[in-house]
Amino acid sequence: MTTNPKYARLFEKVQLNDGITLQNRIAIAPMTHSSSNPDLSVSDAELSYYERRTGKLGLAITAVAHVTPGGIGFKNQFAAFGAENLDGLSKLAASLKKGGAKAVLQIFHAGIQGPRAIVPNEDVVGASAIELQDGSQARELSAGEIDSIVSDFGRATELAIEAGFDGVEIHGANGYLIQQFFSGWSNRREDKWGGSVEKRLAFPLAVVDEVQRAAAAKTKEPFIVGYRFSPEEPHEEGITMDHTVTLLDALAGKNLSYLHVSLMEYASKPRRGGDLNRTRLEQIVEAAKGTPVVGVGSVHTPDQAIEALELGAAIVALGRELIVEPDWVEKVEAGQEADIAVTLTKDDQQRLVVPDQLWGMIIGMPGWFPVVETEAAAE
Ligand SMILES: Cc1cc2nc3c(=O)[nH]c(=O)nc-3n(C[C@H](O)[C@H](O)[C@H](O)COP(=O)(O)O)c2cc1C
Repeated sequence: MTTNPKYARLFEKVQLNDGITLQNRIAIAPMTHSSSNPDLSVSDAELSYYERRTGKLGLAITAVAHVTPGGIGFKNQFAAFGAENLDGLSKLAASLKKGGAKAVLQIFHAGIQGPRAIVPNEDVVGASAIELQDGSQARELSAGEIDSIVSDFGRATELAIEAGFDGVEIHGANGYLIQQFFSGWSNRREDKWGGSVEKRLAFPLAVVDEVQRAAAAKTKEPFIVGYRFSPEEPHEEGITMDHTVTLLDALAGKNLSYLHVSLMEYASKPRRGGDLNRTRLEQIVEAAKGTPVVGVGSVHTPDQAIEALELGAAIVALGRELIVEPDWVEKVEAGQEADIAVTLTKDDQQRLVVPDQLWGMIIGMPGWFPVVETEAAAE
C-alpha cells in the first residue's frame, strides 16, 4: 500500500537552520523514562525501547539528560557530564540513528524541581530561594555557581558530539532551571541574572551562547542546536505569551536550528497575553520568524499531525502516541492509518517494549496515558 496523499506532507524532507536535512517531518518528543542504570548510564532496556519506535523518524529527541550532578530531576535519569557517560551516550546515539533519524540529546538542569531525596547533599538550588511544595526552601545559586552551570551545558554539548549525536536540544521548558531564570515568578534576583523580562533572558541566552560556542569549537560539521520552551505559566507573576514573544525575539538573533514549543494540546490557545483567539502555535510560528518550529501535544492521528503542520509547525513531535503505537510512522507511510492504535492495555508492556519504570508510571497515573481494560476495547 502507498501513503494516502493527504498525509504526504508528513514525509517531506525538512531543512533546519544549520543546513541539516531531516528525512521527514515527524519527531519523537523528549520523554523521560526513568529507566537508565542506577549509576546514571544508559541501560539496555532504554536502548531497546528507543529502537522499537524511532526507526523511520525524521528527528529523534532523547529523554532529558542532566548536565551536572546537582541538576538531576528524576531517579534513574541518564547523565551527560563526564567521560564515564560516553559509552552509553554513544550506544544511544547509534541506536537512534539506525533508520536515518537525526539524533538529538536533550539537556537540562532541574533546578528547584530536583527531588531533594536524590539531589546530592539534598541541595536543591534555583534562580531564587523559592518555597517548594513540601514547605522547604530552594537555595539561591551564587553568581559563581551560575557560571559553572553555564559551562556544564557546554561540556554536555562536547560529550554529545563525541558520542555521535547530530545535535542537542536545550531544555528551556516545563519549569526547569532555564525557565526558572526566565520566569518572574521563580526569578527574584537583583543581580545581572534577574530583574525585567529582558534581564531575565540573561541565563537562557548565556546557555545558548555556551552551547553554540562549544559546538563550534568541537566540530566543523553542521550540528543541531534546538531550544525547547513553555509559552506560559499558570502563576500570576509567571510567563505569559507576551514574555514568550520577547524570548523568541531574542532567540531569533541566535540562528538556532529549530524551536520546540512544549504544549499538551497542539491547537491550544493562550490563557494570558498574545491573541486569546488564535492558537499558541500560530503565534509562536510568527514570532519564530522563519526558524522551523516543532509542534507537539496530543497528536494521535495523522489528521491531527497535518493540522499541526497547517498551523505552521515545520515538524510535528509525538510523545505518548509513539509509546502506544511504535509503528505509527510505518503505518501512515504504508497507507495503514486505519490500524493505528490510540489506546493500550495493562498487558501490553512486552509487546510495546517499554521499560519497567516507565511502564509503572504509565499504569500508575490514571488519565495520563489512554489505558483501557481489554484489547477489544482498544479497537
Ligand atoms: C513519559 C513522559 C516523559 C516526558 N519527559 C519529558 C522530557 O524529558 N523532556 C521534555 O521536554 N518533555 C517531556 N515530556 C513532555 C513531552 O515531550 C510532550 O511535550 C508531552 O507529553 C505532550 O506530547 P504528547 O501529547 O504527544 O505526549 C514527557 C512526557 C511524557 C509522557
